[in-house]
Parts: sequence; C-alpha cells; structure tokens
Amino acid sequence: SNKTFTMVKPHAVADNNIGGIIQMIETAGFRIVAMKKVLLTSENAGKFYEVHKERPFYAELCETMSAGPIIPMILEKENAVADFRALIGSTDPADAAEGTIRKKYAKSKGENAVHGSDSDENAQIESSFFFSGIEQF
Ligand code: GTP
Ligand code: MG
Repeated sequence: SNKTFTMVKPHAVADNNIGGIIQMIETAGFRIVAMKKVLLTSENAGKFYEVHKERPFYAELCETMSAGPIIPMILEKENAVADFRALIGSTDPADAAEGTIRKKYAKSKGENAVHGSDSDENAQIESSFFFSGIEQF
C-alpha cells in the first residue's frame, strides 16, 4: 500500500515539536493525507493499543498516550509503512539511528515521539480508528 498511519505523541506535542516532526516527515517525501489534534482518554488509548494488552508496559502506555493531546495523521508515499518505520527509527531511542525522528525527539521507550503502523493491514485499521471516510482524501 502507499499509505501509513502515525501519531505525534503527547510529550512531543507538549514540547512544541509538532512542526519539527512534520518537517522531517515532509522532507522524507511523505504527503499528509489527514491530520487533527485529539485528546484520548486512557480507555480509548487502551482500545487503540489492544494488541499490547498482555504486555507489561500496557498500563503505562495507556497513561502516556492519554497524558495530553496527540496529532494523528495518515501519510502517503510509495512503500509508506516500511519507509516510515525506517524514518522513525528504533522503539528505544538509545538504539535509534542518526537522522531518525526518534533519535532527535524521543526521550525514552515510552516517550518515543511518534507511532508508526507496522503493516498495511494495521495502517488501515489505525487510520479508521481516528478518521472517517470523508477525512481521508
Ligand atoms: P509504535 O510505532 O508506537 O507501535 O512503536 P513500535 O512499533 O516501535 O513498538 P511496539 O509496537 O512494540 O510498542 C508500542 C509502544 O509501546 C512503543 O512505541 C512504546 O511507546 C511502548 N513500549 C514498547 N516497549 C516498551 C517498554 O519496554 N516500556 C515502555 N514504557 N513502553 C514501551
Ligand atoms: Mg508498534
């Protein structure tokens, strides 16, 4: 597919890094298809991350993702999912490569600046969680 889904996480929004992150995304050749600002409840964050509900960090993840507003976006580019995972870098900023979004903006594994879908199927599911059909063009 040529689309993926991302969110700028609460700590990065709070630190005024929305613009810096979008700059890196656009410079890497992604087009923003849909974008808004949303405040999740912990319960809604839990629904979004339901696949992780058995993981030890699930409760912390739900709190971190509902600590403040996020910026969900649908992005378009050839090979979008894989290319965006490469642009964001490793989950743990200590392992993130130079030039990646997480290298520049992540603070920890939990506060790691952005989310990026891990498959075409999940990109579709995650996009539909936040955006109706008329918002996706
Ligand atoms: P996403 O793009 O956000 O899905 O990150 P990812 O695919 O690199 O990581 P994964 O899907 O395995 O985990 C989802 C999110 O849970 C990560 O982005 C982290 O914010 C968080 N997370 C993963 N591992 C840990 C951990 O060991 N501790 C904490 N606190 N959070 C974690
Ligand atoms: Mg993931």
